[in-house]
Amino acid sequence: MRLSILILLACLSALAARAHAEADLARGESLYATCASCHGADAGGNRALSAPRLSHLREVTIVAQLEKFRAGQRGGEGATASARQMAPMAATLPDEQALLDVAAYIATLDSPVSPATVEGDPALGADYYNQFCGACHGPGAAGNVALNSPALAGGDDWYLVAQLQAFRAGERGAQSGDRTGRQMRAMAAVLPSEQAVADVVAFIRSLSEGE
Ligand code: HEC
Ligand code: HEC
Repeated sequence: MRLSILILLACLSALAARAHAEADLARGESLYATCASCHGADAGGNRALSAPRLSHLREVTIVAQLEKFRAGQRGGEGATASARQMAPMAATLPDEQALLDVAAYIATLDSPVSPATVEGDPALGADYYNQFCGACHGPGAAGNVALNSPALAGGDDWYLVAQLQAFRAGERGAQSGDRTGRQMRAMAAVLPSEQAVADVVAFIRSLSEGE
């Protein structure tokens, strides 16, 4: 008797967890209306506003980054102007469920990869990538959920350069509570020069060709 109650409770809590994790796409779509003014209706990004493409990102990445913006771990003190612009936008989302809803809606969108703008040597970049980056971001730069590392293939090359520079300058990944950001900051510092940053991004950009 007691056992069957325990089993019933376990089933109920599993159901509750599922219900909580289920996103409301219609709500996500209406929440995204604000985001679209910068990131575009198809989440393809807008370079003039420094707003990156989002449509290649996993829901879990989008939620994690929105949480960081809301907590001041990204876009807080010492951050770049573009990150400080995004932080108040993340703060407008009314509750935790809204993060899941808007992320689920973004995941339904598709957009063309933005044109290549960074001049670098993709062959040299491949060497850096395979040596320093692939273990976490994966051989095709598709990211790795278990390691919290986002997809890079499909990202705007100008955005990837800007983020690597921000990590290197301590404008991102410097806050004490930002465990994964600090991890990535240490890796960005391994690249020997600004040219190496351009090279590795040129290689990542080449991976998304043909999309
Ligand atoms: C005023 C323009 C603006 C609006 C509106 C805006 N964003 Fe952003 N967003 C940005 C900028 C600029 C960045 C780049 C931040 C940086 O450089 O670190 C960004 C970055 C992001 C990132 C990080 C992407 C990554 O690869 O880590 C996510 C996720 C995101 N925005 C989601 C949203 C969502 C969801 C909304 C709507 C609730 C939204 N944004 C509204 C400008 C905007
Ligand atoms: C130890 C694992 C690890 C290694 C190795 C690593 N990264 Fe990362 N990377 C991460 C994690 C985790 C994040 C997410 C950071 C965050 O949440 O702010 C990240 C984020 C990034 C971002 C930001 C993406 C975005 O959408 O904002 C870029 C760009 C990036 N990594 C490039 C690289 C490059 C280039 C290398 C090699 C020089 C590299 N990473 C090596 C774990 C790693």
